[in-house]
Amino acid sequence: MTIKDIPLREKCIIFIGFMGVGKTTIGSEVAKKLYRDFYDVDVEIEKKYGMSVKEIFNTFGEEEFRKKEKEMIFKLCEQRLNIISLGGGAFLQSEIKERCLKDGIVFFLDLSWDSWKDRISMLIDSRPILQGRTLEEIEDLFHSRQKIYSLHHSRVETDALEIEEIANYIVDSIKLAWDLYEPHK
Ligand code: S3P
Repeated sequence: MTIKDIPLREKCIIFIGFMGVGKTTIGSEVAKKLYRDFYDVDVEIEKKYGMSVKEIFNTFGEEEFRKKEKEMIFKLCEQRLNIISLGGGAFLQSEIKERCLKDGIVFFLDLSWDSWKDRISMLIDSRPILQGRTLEEIEDLFHSRQKIYSLHHSRVETDALEIEEIANYIVDSIKLAWDLYEPHK
C-alpha cells in the first residue's frame, strides 16, 4: 500500500499557525477527544537532542534546526493516526508543506495580531525567532508569515473562542469530513 492509499480516517491531523496561537493546547485537546497520540514537533526535537529549541538555535543555528524539524515532521507523518502540532516556521519549507497537505489533514489556527500581541511576554524567552526584534518587526513577521499558512484544509478563527469550543468544532468537522468522504460501509 502506498502512502496515497491512507484512508482519510487514519490520516494524521496537523496544526499550523504562528507561534503561540495555541497549536499545542488545542492539538492535545483534540487528541484526547479522538483517543489519539499527540506530538508537538518542538518537544520531540528537544527530547531527541536533549536540548531546548533555543539551545539548538544558539548552538547550531536556524538552518540546522530547520533540518532537524523537517526530519522529525517526516518521521511523524509516516505513521498513521498521529495528531501533530508544527512549529510556526515549519511551513517555510515547501517540502514540509507539500508532505503535510498530502498525507495529513491540515488545520490552520488563525489568531488576529490584536489578540496575539498580548501573548508576546509569555513567548519571548523561549522563541529565538522573536528575540532582538522590535514590536514593529514582530508585527511585520506576523503578517508576512500568514502567507505560508494560506494552504491548508481548514482554517479556524480562534479570537472569540475558548479552547474547548475550538477543539469541539475541530473534532466535529473532522467527523463530518470522515462521514462525508469515507462513510462506513
Ligand atoms: C518557530 C516557532 C516555534 C519553534 C521555533 C521556530 C518559528 O514553534 O519551532 O522557535 O520559526 O515560527 P511554535 O510555533 O510552537 O512556537
